[in-house]
Amino acid sequence: MNPIPYGRQHITQEDIDAVVETLQSDFLTQGPKVLEFENKFAAYIGAKYAVAVANGTAALHLCALALGVNEKSRVITTPITFAASANCVRYCGGEVEFADINPETGLLELEKVRQKLESQPKGYYTGIIPVDFAGLPVNLEEFRKLADEFGLWIIEDACHAPGGYFIDSKGEKQNCGNGNYADLAIFSFHPVKHIATGEGGMITTNNPDLYEKLLTLRTHGITRDPQKMRENHGGWYMEMQELGYNYRMPDMLTALGISQLNRAEEGLLRRKEIAKRYDSAFRNLSNIKILNPAAYKAENAEKTSHAYHLYVIQVEKRKALYDFLRTKNIFAQVHYIPVHLMPYYQDLGFKKDDFPLAEAYYEMCLSLPMFPSLTDEEQEYVIENVLAFLQNG
Ligand SMILES: Cc1ncc(COP(=O)(O)O)c(C=O)c1O
Repeated sequence: MNPIPYGRQHITQEDIDAVVETLQSDFLTQGPKVLEFENKFAAYIGAKYAVAVANGTAALHLCALALGVNEKSRVITTPITFAASANCVRYCGGEVEFADINPETGLLELEKVRQKLESQPKGYYTGIIPVDFAGLPVNLEEFRKLADEFGLWIIEDACHAPGGYFIDSKGEKQNCGNGNYADLAIFSFHPVKHIATGEGGMITTNNPDLYEKLLTLRTHGITRDPQKMRENHGGWYMEMQELGYNYRMPDMLTALGISQLNRAEEGLLRRKEIAKRYDSAFRNLSNIKILNPAAYKAENAEKTSHAYHLYVIQVEKRKALYDFLRTKNIFAQVHYIPVHLMPYYQDLGFKKDDFPLAEAYYEMCLSLPMFPSLTDEEQEYVIENVLAFLQNG
């Protein structure tokens, strides 16, 4: 069997043609494809505005800047995420706090966040960054209520969940990243993600002021809008009004993004099919736990639609299974090493046992291959080998 990674991009001839076409156009960096991608992505997600940026990390950084994160800010996120979800606060000099996860879903636990907020005077914390981990949507309606009680903003890290949604208490479908409950949401187009452009990211929002601010921050803090300029010396004139960055996404990558977006629903359906097959193979085994059971239990099936960036199982002998699968050319992965245990965060004062549920989850988690071009035969081979390990180990 050829090597099977845990995730990989799927590039078609259409994708290649779309990129080549932009290479033959006048725009190597930001051009007309960027706005087209933004408009199509916003429509897909159901948000009013979208801002394409260099990658998901840049998206997080710009969101933190746009919301005014600074040395006085204290922001809560989950330890079970990619470090960038927390790092964006540090880029702006703010303090990161973590709250523990719900062990059934792997998501940031609302009650743990509430406890944290209630343990300090109002105004102590500034914002929350929940993550739709593995593709399972966070119930942002509940987080919004909590955030409003304490005057906090929300950045939804939806990198894993384009196409995922939950049904809110009014019975309305809320797509991940649609901006109805979060102030800002971010996505990544890293190769293992649903839409892959190599490097690339997107911010979505319904807030016109934040949208305007993000556009400026993405390009050095420069404006060319005569209404906003202090002076105007002529046609060439522009003003750098605040400290921004070059976080633009080039036209050739946004062209790839548009082409990939056209197949997003197809890819999502395939991911769900793969998940269903894993579910039925593992569901009744006592020595394996499937993360996110709420997502497929009949009573919740219509309330939450999992986007399945990852398919996570939990087993006692995780390291042995990881090593065994590698000998079979199956490259499962671990998501994630808890962020608070990274040496950088330990140097800031976090330590082992701070977030025991996240740490217990980490000891047992393993992400099995999950990507649309995974063949039935390859998946069967993965399942056979996991089962063989469980029976013999
Ligand atoms: C949850 C999460 N947040 C943020 C990022 C950062 O995205 P990028 O790699 O595009 O910078 C990633 C992806 O790697 C991620 O998985």
